[in-house]
Amino acid sequence: MIKAGPIALALGLLAAGSAALAQNAADPTARARADFPVSAAISRSPDEAVFRARCGYCHLEMGFGTLTLMKAQGPVKALLANRTDLEGDYVRAVVRSGLLGMPAITRAEVTDGELDAIVRYLTRNNPRK
Ligand code: HEC
Repeated sequence: MIKAGPIALALGLLAAGSAALAQNAADPTARARADFPVSAAISRSPDEAVFRARCGYCHLEMGFGTLTLMKAQGPVKALLANRTDLEGDYVRAVVRSGLLGMPAITRAEVTDGELDAIVRYLTRNNPRK
């Protein structure tokens, strides 16, 4: 009886793991889209899918961030996805350092590649970006 089963399984898992890593290096949005398949399915772009997956639970319609911005700045500025005034450096600073009611978000939670995608999405309607 040859006991190669566990070794073959381990090698298979290793190969699958490196394939996943290689895929993430090629496409930084892949991890977020895999984590939240529903967001990926309803988004019009991979960048939107990352925003929905990583920021959506506070910044979609009924989120705490949306409601806080609604009170502080009114309806035009409440939904980040509709904003035309957001600048990349500002979004990056708020995400990494936090802002009042919003906690700082680490690179383990949102990678630099994911933040790039989020910034592209949130600044897409800013004529001055
Ligand atoms: C836990 C909830 C939460 C999460 C998750 C969250 N935010 Fe926020 N965010 C807030 C709150 C609350 C505010 C309003 C801050 C305040 O004024 O108290 C805010 C404010 C902001 C602002 C400032 C808007 C302005 O007009 O000044 C930006 C930009 C922002 N968030 C981006 C993001 C991005 C990008 C993500 C995802 C990477 C994210 N947030 C995730 C809660 C959150």
